Amino acid sequence: MIRFGGDYNPEQWPSPVWAEDVGLMLRAGVNLVTVGVFSWSRLQPGPDEFDFGWLDRVLDLLGSAGIGVCLATPTASPPPWFTRLHPTAMPINHDGVRLSHGSRDTYCVNAPAYQSASLEITGRLASRYAGHDALRLWHVHNEYGTTCYCDHCAAAFRRWLAARYGDPATLNDAWSTDFWSQRVSNFDEVLPPRATQYLSNPAQLLDYRRFVSDAMLEHYRSQRALLSGAPVTTNFVLGGWVPVDHARWAREVDIVAIDDYPTTLAERAFAADLARGWARGGPWMLMEHAPSVEAREIAQPYLDRGATGILYFQWRASRGGAEQWHPAMVPHEGPDTPVFREISALGATLRDREPVAVTATSALIYDEQTMWALQSPHLPPRAEGYEATVKRWHRAFDGPVDVVPPDASLGEYDLVVAPLLYLLPAAGHRALRDYVSGGGRLVLTFDSGLVDEHCRVTPGALDDLIGARRIQHDLEPATATVLRHTPDGRPAVLENHYGGGVVRYVATDLDDLGLTLLEI
Ligand code: GAL
Repeated sequence: MIRFGGDYNPEQWPSPVWAEDVGLMLRAGVNLVTVGVFSWSRLQPGPDEFDFGWLDRVLDLLGSAGIGVCLATPTASPPPWFTRLHPTAMPINHDGVRLSHGSRDTYCVNAPAYQSASLEITGRLASRYAGHDALRLWHVHNEYGTTCYCDHCAAAFRRWLAARYGDPATLNDAWSTDFWSQRVSNFDEVLPPRATQYLSNPAQLLDYRRFVSDAMLEHYRSQRALLSGAPVTTNFVLGGWVPVDHARWAREVDIVAIDDYPTTLAERAFAADLARGWARGGPWMLMEHAPSVEAREIAQPYLDRGATGILYFQWRASRGGAEQWHPAMVPHEGPDTPVFREISALGATLRDREPVAVTATSALIYDEQTMWALQSPHLPPRAEGYEATVKRWHRAFDGPVDVVPPDASLGEYDLVVAPLLYLLPAAGHRALRDYVSGGGRLVLTFDSGLVDEHCRVTPGALDDLIGARRIQHDLEPATATVLRHTPDGRPAVLENHYGGGVVRYVATDLDDLGLTLLEI
């Protein structure tokens, strides 16, 4: 069965609309809806007040119609009473500004008050609904991703660093703190990378992203520990701004779920291959995307690449609120609309379908830590960023390719392409070397393997893999980089990047690789 449906926010509507919703869902072929994502203030109107009656009725209504529920914990948006009682649980941004209530995702994941309030509401939901007939999936939180720089975070960051480095001397070495007099004598001297006079330390910036990812993962895990009765997931949002190392997180969910709001079919294919790569052979689903009159065409790349579910944000368009003009499966004008008809046509085609099993023979390496490292300030200018480079290489493949992290097991692939792998920790390097020495074909691009996991320059790190060296590295006008492949001279690509564009040389016949090289 393919799961089909979307985010359903019945709390925005009077109850007579719920019955109409369920009838329309059946008409559209909906079999799964995500309920409760932003319902905290309805479920807990005050610190000691709870109201689950409305949610009981919604779940019963859906369950009796045979529609499954993906039940969300509402922890991404604490209610106003919480903010009023716990002002220090509001996040502080990079510039030192304490954010106020008024949107969503406004909390500090390291604030004790937030942690206990979020676990309390999750615990209550868990004990009430774990046995409900309609429950198919738990949806923890929503798109983890808030970065905070407050004192709670500073204290947690120091604990994280102490566990990672053991003593200040090791931290000093890893962070190259002798540059600009940043040497610390104890962990208490370390701060989050808050706004500062000039450029921040790249190793500190990168470790802070890793720490934020781990802190949020800890919060996810503590919620997951309370949940039972159905598989557990959380929805991953894609993009460079989010401090979540999804490849690691993917090991902690029962089903990988992505939210994807791209503009082209090629980007959708990339996201689908990435989700499948994160899932490492397990199931994955499209948890959110935007409904449209092209729903069937848009769903196709995900389905072709093994999606086990196609869900939207959201079921019924919101009359008010910040996203009132976001497309919906049931638009403001109601079901007698091209969007609803198209969505229903897709629902009908999915009714008897099973997910496709995909076996890819090539892999493309995508690493969020590399992407973060490439967001450091003051790097040599580059004509094309990390994501754009990886996506360009992805477009060079005709069919599905597994998009995997650098430490994935690569042995089964005929070809591995690792674009712009700037950051190369020992484990990733080992995986590539094992792959090549086992006869694998590896394609690297410009600016690969330039720094280690602490952003320290590692000249010649890839010499054992490519039999070629970066020969020039100019800040102005830009970079010139060499890449080549396997020591025995099999297919190679050379690319030189300049500030204004890219000059690329194909050293040997790319047809051999089954690749089409695309111009930018
Ligand atoms: C997602 C989010 C949804 C909704 C959607 C459309 O990122 O999870 O709640 O906001 O974007 O903007």
